[in-house]
Amino acid sequence: MRIMNKVKKAIIPAAGLGTRFLPATKTVAKEMLPIVDKPSILYIVEEAVAAGIEDIVIIAGRGKTEIEDFFDVSYELEDLLHKQNKTELLDKITHLKDLANIISIRQKRPLGLGHAVLSGQPIVGDQPFAVLLGDEIMVNKGNHPCVTQQLIHGYEKHQMSTVAVMEVPPEEVFKYGIIAFKEKVDSYFKITEVIEKPNVTEAPSCFALPGRYVFDASIFQHLKNIKPGKNNEIQLTDAMTLNAKYEGLLASTFEAFRYDAGDKFGFLQANIELALQHPEIQNKLKPYLIQ
Ligand code: G1P
Repeated sequence: MRIMNKVKKAIIPAAGLGTRFLPATKTVAKEMLPIVDKPSILYIVEEAVAAGIEDIVIIAGRGKTEIEDFFDVSYELEDLLHKQNKTELLDKITHLKDLANIISIRQKRPLGLGHAVLSGQPIVGDQPFAVLLGDEIMVNKGNHPCVTQQLIHGYEKHQMSTVAVMEVPPEEVFKYGIIAFKEKVDSYFKITEVIEKPNVTEAPSCFALPGRYVFDASIFQHLKNIKPGKNNEIQLTDAMTLNAKYEGLLASTFEAFRYDAGDKFGFLQANIELALQHPEIQNKLKPYLIQ
């Protein structure tokens, strides 16, 4: 049996322009918009860290230096809070720089999600890695480990790249990468093809990709070989079809609460649901919402 390396690296694509949140995102990266009191990218980084990831490659675009700064030391602020003896506030920011090794790479041209993932290859090399899309916030359900951890479990068990899928209503398939599958290996789907945002009439199933993936490094070769696909972009889903054909690719449903924070409604939903769990404001918010 092939001995696989542990999944210790992750890529977080964060080069998008965030046009759905203009004008807020004119000067602020959409990944920095807060969900209650944390920028959305922190939820993603925390999920990766909970899954045992040590090196996180953030694929950023122009004007996204604030993401790097967020995970760095903030001397002036830390010094001020220290002098003012505000230890509780200080604790909220000092640990951020130690969460993981955050490595930033610029995607110089917006050529698509596949191209963004390929931009992380110089750091990932020939290691297996996770990809976490920042628009999707996954919150743990009960005692289940985080979604990325659930995928790593599948990857280690079957020694094959494994991605998350969720069932969506037929009228929503046009928003997602949709899988075609042949059979199930215990609870995992064996993918035969992945179609990026199909029409409902062309969709091979209603199982959609919600933006959590664990790949071995073979995906990079496929990303280099493919031509621009849907919307003239280098699509991760097209490389996944080749991955399914040559090395095998599994999909797994997952246990977690998911919020599409890339959309105004989902973003507000995440804010409300997470605020209802926040010790500082839950007691005020609950009666307010019931009013
Ligand atoms: C991307 C992917 C798509 C995936 C989706 C999940 O699309 O291309 O396959 O299902 O993320 O959010 P985007 O939403 O960035 O257009």
